[in-house]
Amino acid sequence: MKCTKKVWSGLLIVILLTSCFSEKKETASLNIDKTLESNVLKTKATVKTLKSASRLPRSIENNEKNWSLVPVKDWCSGFWPGVLWYAYEASGDESIKKEAEKFTIPIKKIAYKSALDHDIGFQVYCSYGNGYRLTGNEAYKEVLLAAADTLATLYNPIVGSIHSWPMKPQYPHNTIIDNMMNLELLFWAAKNGGSKTLYDIAESHAEVTMKNLVRPDYSAYHLGSFDDKTGAFIRGVAHQGYADDSMWARGQTWGIYGFAFSYRETGREDFLNTSTHLADKYLERLPVDGIPFWDFDDPKVPNAPKDASAAAIAACGMLELAVLVKDDALKNKYYNAAKRFISILSTDAYMSNQKNQALLLHSTGHHPKNSEIDASIIYADYYFMEALLRLKKMEEYKKS
Ligand code: GLY
Repeated sequence: MKCTKKVWSGLLIVILLTSCFSEKKETASLNIDKTLESNVLKTKATVKTLKSASRLPRSIENNEKNWSLVPVKDWCSGFWPGVLWYAYEASGDESIKKEAEKFTIPIKKIAYKSALDHDIGFQVYCSYGNGYRLTGNEAYKEVLLAAADTLATLYNPIVGSIHSWPMKPQYPHNTIIDNMMNLELLFWAAKNGGSKTLYDIAESHAEVTMKNLVRPDYSAYHLGSFDDKTGAFIRGVAHQGYADDSMWARGQTWGIYGFAFSYRETGREDFLNTSTHLADKYLERLPVDGIPFWDFDDPKVPNAPKDASAAAIAACGMLELAVLVKDDALKNKYYNAAKRFISILSTDAYMSNQKNQALLLHSTGHHPKNSEIDASIIYADYYFMEALLRLKKMEEYKKS
């Protein structure tokens, strides 16, 4: 009995040392500048192949080489201009800035049309938001403020949250975990000349999401269905996940990131704790190779498809957390985890290199619809660029 105990603890030490060693090896191979440089070159090559700024890259499936393009109304339309802005930020190359401006302009109409869904935030903040951050162009600011007001029209004060998907009549009022990301537009607008109500809407939305979509074990539902007349929570639904009670990887990471900046903007500790709990749950369930399966509970795991986009979003969210948490051990934990994800995404196993026009391979879009499985998807590239730039700035700050 004693001997068995000794053998087990010996084995545990070996496993821990091996995984520590291999994690060190993973991050040691990361060269942020080189990866950014090759991403910039690739983005420059891709943009030359695009004929119209109103048709934007979305995904590459089935071993195709080139992006399939979507119109401005698609929920992913803002990510390509966002990638261009990040490529400009990384390189300072004026020719990329011109392309970023060109692909940003068509998104404007989203801000002024009546709101179709919560994706206005992704569409306008990733394009115009980055454009304004990098250029200070006042015309961009106007579009952002208009977009925030348009997004706010989806708010239902009885429920206390934004109606994320009005086009789904089976849920009279639904709020999805992804919608957390679009609160950043509202928080930004409230600080930059927009109505203070936008802040109140964002805070209330985060609170309703925290109380209803985050389960007691700190995994998240994709969608919460509410009674639009009484505000009562009806049930949590999987939608893009495997099952109502499963843990959909990208949803978990939208939550990590969204609650982190909701704390940054409000100072509410319960939002910070929600983000760290969601992050800890994600880390606890992560497979040893550091990239999640599309849904942690797909019975096909370990043979289920991966989702590199979730890894890229997790990296951004955890770098944000590393700045926000006060405890040094926690800072290191989230920083090292994020750096590890970025390092793994930067290897040949995940970089597309010459395989296709995208930066990354192996993301999963909508598995239940059998759509974009093991594909290149534009939001994976967007958050990968964001994560690389964030990490570069943080590494420089650490050295200074
Ligand atoms: N916002 C939709 C998705 O994450 O697939």
